[in-house]
Amino acid sequence: MSFFTGIPVAPPIEVFHMNKLFMDETSPDKVNLTIGAYRTEEGKPWVLPVVREAERQIAADETLNHEYLPVLGLDAFCKAATGLLLGNDNKAIQEGRAIGVQCLSGTGSLRMGAEFLSRVMGLKTAYLSNPTWGNHKLVFKVAGFETIKEYTYWDPANRAVNIEQMIADLQQAPEKSVVVLHGCAHNPTGMDPTHDEWKRIAQVIKDRHLFTFFDIAYQGFASGDPDSDAWPIRYFLDQGLEMFVAQSFAKNFGLYNERVGNLTVVFNDKSAIAGFSSQMSLVVRANWSNPPAHGARVVAKVLGDPELRKSWHEAIKTMSDRIKQMRAALRSNLEALGTPGKWDHITKMIGLFSYTGLTPEQVDHLVKKHKVFLLSDGRINICGLNTKNVEYVAKAIDETVRS
Ligand code: LMR
Repeated sequence: MSFFTGIPVAPPIEVFHMNKLFMDETSPDKVNLTIGAYRTEEGKPWVLPVVREAERQIAADETLNHEYLPVLGLDAFCKAATGLLLGNDNKAIQEGRAIGVQCLSGTGSLRMGAEFLSRVMGLKTAYLSNPTWGNHKLVFKVAGFETIKEYTYWDPANRAVNIEQMIADLQQAPEKSVVVLHGCAHNPTGMDPTHDEWKRIAQVIKDRHLFTFFDIAYQGFASGDPDSDAWPIRYFLDQGLEMFVAQSFAKNFGLYNERVGNLTVVFNDKSAIAGFSSQMSLVVRANWSNPPAHGARVVAKVLGDPELRKSWHEAIKTMSDRIKQMRAALRSNLEALGTPGKWDHITKMIGLFSYTGLTPEQVDHLVKKHKVFLLSDGRINICGLNTKNVEYVAKAIDETVRS
């Protein structure tokens, strides 16, 4: 007899599974467009020079030790992250109505936020974007949400945001539903609402008394400018909306495996902070008790030092510029080949991803025949492209679309 007999085998986590298939592939032509991580022109991961510099300074600082951090995180990090998101001169910060909770990257921030909403505040209905990041549903389900619904986001025929249907869906949401929105560089589509569309979304959230939960995993990475990427969040705040915002520093600092994130919380009345912080301390205590220090120290140091911060701005510009170049290169290669279909959406989209519009069958063909690895919904990570493989990928897509 074993306690473990009969455990059903769960389906693999697609993004990591596809990445592993790529790693195991022996063809010299193989191209990895799966996992959302930055790659250089040489196809290599990139440790940002400013991160290396901050790490050198941290390693040399003998005043630092390995004692526990406070349950809610390193204060300098939480303040720096919240300031980056809202802008240090934001009214909510000036009035002491905004706080940060250090969490394990974007996922941990989502999970802590969702668990708080469900267990402490009794909110049980969440609305997720259709389509959305592959982990959102699991996080909200495991955190205790009983009803998880989708709002329309995508118009596949026009490869654009379906704003009319999105608004109509949100208008049907029961009061106190939690609406999860992608702050910038929507994953997987790569297409964000315009400012006017964001204004309409804020209005329906306000009218229907819905709770806003932004997920922003690409601040600065999307446009190269952290302030303009945070525009929707700052706009919602100006409209008097309270919110949770899950911030990740995986992409914009390249700190993927350090799991450094922040849950920014903005209250209309700062007297709520005492209750929130005490209850959130228990939620965190039951999960990881105290967060890890290294990544948080790096981010706090870089954002807190004008020279280092300037270097970080240069690094995010380097990354977002390379992504833009690869978008243009893929589109122009496809157009030069006369590949059936329209490809202008590739350069209209921003951030790491493009929703190509390829069907699951076409994706399967691309993987099997051409060794171009991507997700079954047709999402590609633009960073996997470089000047050496973009023509190969365009030809592979061309052959696939025609066959
Ligand atoms: C992605 O979307 O590829 C990344 O955010 C990695 C992940 O955890 O899914």
